Amino acid sequence: MGGASLLRLAAAMVLTGLVSPPVAVAARATPPLPVLPIPTAAQLAWQRREVIMFFHFGMNTFTNSELGTGEEDPALFGPAALNASQWMDAAAAAGASLAILVAKHHDGFCLWPSAYTAHSVRASGWRSGAGDVVREFAAAARARGVDAGLYLSPWDLHDQRYGREVAYNEYYLAQLHELLTGYGSLSEIWFDGHKDKNATNMTYHFHEWFQIVRQLQSSSIIFSDAGPDVRWVGNEDGFVGTTCWSTVNRSMITIGATGIEKYIVA
Ligand SMILES: *[C@@H]1O[C@H](CO)[C@@H](O)[C@H](O)[C@H]1NC(C)=O
Ligand SMILES: *[C@@H]1O[C@H](CO)[C@@H](O)[C@H](O)[C@H]1NC(C)=O
Ligand SMILES: *[C@@H]1O[C@H](CO)[C@@H](O)[C@H](O)[C@H]1NC(C)=O
Ligand SMILES: *[C@@H]1O[C@H](CO)[C@@H](O)[C@H](O)[C@H]1NC(C)=O
Repeated sequence: MGGASLLRLAAAMVLTGLVSPPVAVAARATPPLPVLPIPTAAQLAWQRREVIMFFHFGMNTFTNSELGTGEEDPALFGPAALNASQWMDAAAAAGASLAILVAKHHDGFCLWPSAYTAHSVRASGWRSGAGDVVREFAAAARARGVDAGLYLSPWDLHDQRYGREVAYNEYYLAQLHELLTGYGSLSEIWFDGHKDKNATNMTYHFHEWFQIVRQLQSSSIIFSDAGPDVRWVGNEDGFVGTTCWSTVNRSMITIGATGIEKYIVA
């Protein structure tokens, strides 16, 4: 085909709409540089949840106290009519996309049959010692399309290892491993920094604890007073400061330290 024929063919294709004539396209302006840091995918998903429900259910429910002592008889725990599906109906009705259960509070009683302590549902007689609140909670959440998360208290008033740094940190890590591997996908793990001022002084190995969450539940959000993913707002009054930025200088806050409010609620 000669050059003139090709030109005629090209003109025919344009006329019949087979190819479009080139048009001037304005290049899109680039977005501006971000204000660092850029949130992780998990942080962004968390931010978009809007409503999360927290279930603080456990030994304290049966002793009608906010804080236990660690001396409670496991037999006191007897939720005869426990129905986690009903909990999840309530969560879904409230618009919560994530439900977090206190698997162990400061009193040390475990809502799952941990292999590392006798102070758990297994010793309670509930469901003849075969009960597992964490399992029922996680299964009901999954069935209802609600994501599940867990809280595991570092401060433990019951366990005799508390105060012996290596032994207790191993105990905590072993329990964390049970929770991170036994109950499917978990979307948030809560590390509470609270303990009494006169509680035994002990260093928690938060770094190792966070690392095992990263290893076993890599898309889970880690909560503590000071992150790494999401953090305490500085009070438990049900509101935050009139300005409460997502970003905070982490080198200015320490888990469990007093005075956190002045940096994060301003
Ligand atoms: C548990 O709660 C669910 C949802 O409210 C309900 O459909 C179910 O019947 C309850 N199960 C029992 C054993 O009460
Ligand atoms: C800490 O001390 C207060 C009184 O100063 C007491 O009421 C409380 O029981 C103590 N807590 C513990 C865990 O010993
Ligand atoms: C607690 O122990 C740590 C490290 O062992 C020490 O640095 C700190 O001063 C102690 N705190 C108190 C209140 O004794
Ligand atoms: C964060 O806080 C530390 C300690 O006060 C300070 O040295 C550092 O400059 C701060 N970083 C930023 C980015 O403000």
